Amino acid sequence: MERTCLAIILAAGESTRMKSAMSKVLHPVAGRPMISHVVEALASASISDVALVVGRDAEAVSAAASTGSVTVTSFLQKERLGTGHAVLAAREAIARGYDDVLVVFGDTPLITAAPLKEARDGLAAGNDVVVIGFQTPDPTGYGRLIVEDGTLVAIREHKDATEEERRITYCNGGLMAIDGRRALDLLDRIGNANAKGEYYLTDLVEIVRSLGGRAIAVEAPEEELTGCNTRAELAYIERLWQQRRRHEMMLAGVSMIAPETVFLSWDTELAQDVLVEPHVVFGPGVRVESGAIIHAFSHVEGAHVGAGATVGPFARLRPGADLGPKSKVGNFCEVKKAEIGAGAKVNHLTYIGDAFVGAGSNIGAGTITCNYDGVNKHLTRIGANAFVGSNSSLVAPVTIGDGALVASGSVITDDVPADAVAFGRARQEIKPGRAPVLRERYEAEKTAKKKVKAAD
Ligand code: UD1
Ligand code: CA
Repeated sequence: MERTCLAIILAAGESTRMKSAMSKVLHPVAGRPMISHVVEALASASISDVALVVGRDAEAVSAAASTGSVTVTSFLQKERLGTGHAVLAAREAIARGYDDVLVVFGDTPLITAAPLKEARDGLAAGNDVVVIGFQTPDPTGYGRLIVEDGTLVAIREHKDATEEERRITYCNGGLMAIDGRRALDLLDRIGNANAKGEYYLTDLVEIVRSLGGRAIAVEAPEEELTGCNTRAELAYIERLWQQRRRHEMMLAGVSMIAPETVFLSWDTELAQDVLVEPHVVFGPGVRVESGAIIHAFSHVEGAHVGAGATVGPFARLRPGADLGPKSKVGNFCEVKKAEIGAGAKVNHLTYIGDAFVGAGSNIGAGTITCNYDGVNKHLTRIGANAFVGSNSSLVAPVTIGDGALVASGSVITDDVPADAVAFGRARQEIKPGRAPVLRERYEAEKTAKKKVKAAD
């Protein structure tokens, strides 16, 4: 029979070292709270019973953890007395009786299913406590794993470690699996006689051994267990996350010319044969279909880019931008909450907001949809195969029919019927032979000014 499992996420810490007005587990990695990444990893390891220990910002942390299919039950740790104390906040859940109890930290967002599974395999193999460790050249701050003859003898917190122990580079990743039948008994034995006066979860190793049980450490890649205590570590974690996801995307058929300059969100979807040029930023909610090209220096957020469409260079797609297949949004264009039909072109220096642009239409350089009157937003509808001349202002609400033509420089305030031509500007006047007259006058003015200056 399959072993039952309860995961406990610890997220009640004060986040003192983060120096922030909010709990560190709410700080985003790839545009989503750290804690959501941890829950996602549990889901991908098919762990569905999750207890979340919250303290600071309890409501917001619980909300951020309730993502996807996982049911998360929150437990409040009223005082912050350490990781050992925190786990016991979920006493009620542990008491339900599970084969495996898995403790993970809310501040290790790069964790994946693999080490979670390894930890549980260690329990299935008959160990009482399994700790996931990692090797790092810079172990400062981490608890050190003291291993003798293949068994884990103790975990020594940095602050409590001797000089010699501090030289150990094998560290506690904060992921611990405990025999669920013994968990409460073991946890209740943790004391607080240490440098910080806290109840350390890590003491479980020595406790279980003193009772004749066995603890082991299993090594996992450092990257997955990198913990976030400071802003500098947050930036490092972001970098690792980005590297990992870019790599996955490239292996899945996405081309990136300079991947290290492309920034993805947790939910960015790029189809096979999408090309992303250097210096592109994807905010949340982006889906790009096959064959599309995102040219350099574009910023794309909450947008859908259809197959074979091109974006940029220097384009901004804001939430609700929906680009049809083979459409084009070119340099210095901004599109918000607008559909750009198949093959339509918005090539230069344009703002399209709250609008529909029909298939095959051409929107000239500098066109602006004037969607906002200072109070309300209004819609602009442009039909199929319409042509809007350069530097036109389309004052919404307004409709431009299929095949219509708007003269360049127009301010369009009334609807334009299909196939009509609209001029919305003053007519040009010609004054034959007038240029030399004007020029003479200007020269005279200049000379007069010079004379006044000399007299001063
Ligand atoms: C902890 C480990 C250390 C390990 C490191 C890995 C202990 C005693 N130390 O140290 O061995 O190398 O993580 O990243 O376990 N928390 C609570 N309530 C508390 C205290 C903490 O919920 O009272 C939560 C925090 O929100 C955090 C997690 O537990 O998500 C770890 O706490 P933190 O203070 O970051 O522990 P470290 O000092 O990093
Ligand atoms: Ca930590």
